[in-house]
Amino acid sequence: MYSKVETRFITTNLITIIALFVLILAGGVVRSSGSGMGCPDWPKCFDQYIPPTNILQLPIGYQTKYVAQRVKKNEKFASLLSKMGYVDLATKIRNDESIKIPEEFNATKTYTEYINRLIGAITGIFLLLTCFFAKVYIKNQPKIFWLSLLNLVLVFFQAWLGSIVVSTNLLAWVITLHILVALLILAIAIYTYHHAKYKSLDNVASKPIPTLVKFISIILFLITIFQITLGTHVRETVDYVVTTFPALTRNHWVAKIGESLNYHRDLALLILILNAGLYLLVLQNAKRNSKMVKYLNITLILIVLQMVVGGVLSYLSLPPTAQALHILLASLLFGAQFYLVLLLMQKPFINYTLA
Ligand code: HEM
Repeated sequence: MYSKVETRFITTNLITIIALFVLILAGGVVRSSGSGMGCPDWPKCFDQYIPPTNILQLPIGYQTKYVAQRVKKNEKFASLLSKMGYVDLATKIRNDESIKIPEEFNATKTYTEYINRLIGAITGIFLLLTCFFAKVYIKNQPKIFWLSLLNLVLVFFQAWLGSIVVSTNLLAWVITLHILVALLILAIAIYTYHHAKYKSLDNVASKPIPTLVKFISIILFLITIFQITLGTHVRETVDYVVTTFPALTRNHWVAKIGESLNYHRDLALLILILNAGLYLLVLQNAKRNSKMVKYLNITLILIVLQMVVGGVLSYLSLPPTAQALHILLASLLFGAQFYLVLLLMQKPFINYTLA
């Protein structure tokens, strides 16, 4: 069984994982409702800790002030990019006139973005607590402490990236990087949770899991990461279509996406078939009621749900609710598959004891 300090870490780590999923959903809602610019400044919102609900609460000339702030921030980002050798991109950001168009105040969008930031702050606090409580593992499982610390650093980077996403008018590749960093933070949190939790025999397989099965599970996890990256490319294309053809109505966006959507759709079917194959392989080696089989069930259900939501996106003109759900399901699938890989890779018995 676990000691009190171990239980405290495991519980906090689990809450952090749940908070990360909620945060990814909140990010999806912000994007699908177009609320990214709901708060023009960062970290405060309209210079306030609790944002206004009415335009009358804002000072005259507020729009000019925030546009100026934004231009300044983008200039800083552009000079960083120049120093890193991305001169063309820096010039593109400097010459982007669209960022000079002030956003109209919209209380719903402001509060959508504000709630997203609150959830972000709460998640940050849980990541901090997780790292603090991980101190108990420094001696016997230092990996847990150092990875929790790395996650804390990553979350600061992610918050900075979030502010760039907003000020550069949602620059396509920055959003993709933002999603991938979110998944990395999630993977680290799942990894530390798994390592702190599994020191008992409750997950032992009927027979040792063959190396080939472990290898296949890793390949399938990598294919899912590829599918997520392909999905973000599809989304970048949608964003491009929306900005390049402003006259197009929503029901024409999907038709303009092109080949990448077909690849994305077909790969989903392949992912389903391959994971069903893995299910059969694992069943030959593990108990039916083992955690591995449970997570394979979850994986298959998530793939099917993701395909249904993908179909809704493609054939019902990208409804905003489906957009938010699609990114949440993608992160749940990523989490379930990663956990499954960890379960399959785990030695039948690991007995760690704290000093
Ligand atoms: C394993 C299955 C799937 C995964 C993991 C997945 C993942 C993703 C991800 C991560 C995005 C980017 C979301 C964003 O950045 O906001 C995306 C976008 C998209 N996916 Fe999928 N997807 C899957 C299956 C499908 C299927 C079967 C279809 C239907 C043909 C589909 C249609 C779309 C569309 C239309 C978008 C663009 C949505 C937007 O612009 O908001 N997806 N997908």
